[in-house]
Amino acid sequence: MLLQHYRSQLRWEEEGVVELGTGDATAIADVVASLPGLRVRSFDISAPSVETARANIAARGVADRYTVELGDFFDQADSAGGAPVSTVISNPPYIPAPDRNILMPELWGGVHGNDLMLQLLKAGYDNVIAAVASYSDPLETVRTAGDLGYRVANFLAMGLDFGAYSSEPKVRDHIRRMCAEGRGWAGDDEYMVAVALFTRNPDVPGDRADQLLRALQL
Ligand SMILES: C[S@@+](CC[C@H](N)C(=O)[O-])C[C@H]1O[C@@H](n2cnc3c(N)ncnc32)[C@H](O)[C@@H]1O
Repeated sequence: MLLQHYRSQLRWEEEGVVELGTGDATAIADVVASLPGLRVRSFDISAPSVETARANIAARGVADRYTVELGDFFDQADSAGGAPVSTVISNPPYIPAPDRNILMPELWGGVHGNDLMLQLLKAGYDNVIAAVASYSDPLETVRTAGDLGYRVANFLAMGLDFGAYSSEPKVRDHIRRMCAEGRGWAGDDEYMVAVALFTRNPDVPGDRADQLLRALQL
């Protein structure tokens, strides 16, 4: 919806977009199928994910516009060559935990869950469309984004039940501690996630940072 709504300002028909973290690719393959003219170049560090993603993308008939490469986004995307791209999309790993030793280490987002998000904001893209979880220190994320010159142009938020990875006792306890310290919000068994457009593009007006934080219950 954000790509569609800001179609002309984000110029994705001309430039395409890059993606950090393909996963099984189903969510974005459906987006690519619904937006003719969108090209996504995606990267994932997990070889099994890349294999599954390629199969899912082929099954949806969008392999010509959604490509997946194995490797760390931050090593690959910049050195990939080609015309510069101004928009990155991502549902980044955002599980907060004291260390990477969790059920699925690829989903570890650092101690506060927002390491990958902060790295993305520092990577130099004018537009970052990314999922922000209410238990992964969104206050720090939004403050850092502001310091780097980004505004929250818009967002879509929904509530999610704790899944297998947030329910792991080590992760759940850590989330509770973070929320008690004011670094996030979670209910007994639920949290909020918003997909937000952070932009430095003057053609995209407005700043909904406060509304985003309120939607995340902060
Ligand atoms: C939360 S999943 C999102 C998957 C998919 N985009 C979705 O929304 O269903 C995050 C993905 O990022 C990948 N990942 C983690 N760190 C990465 C990095 N530095 N570069 C590229 N991919 C990474 C993980 O392997 C995982 O598949």
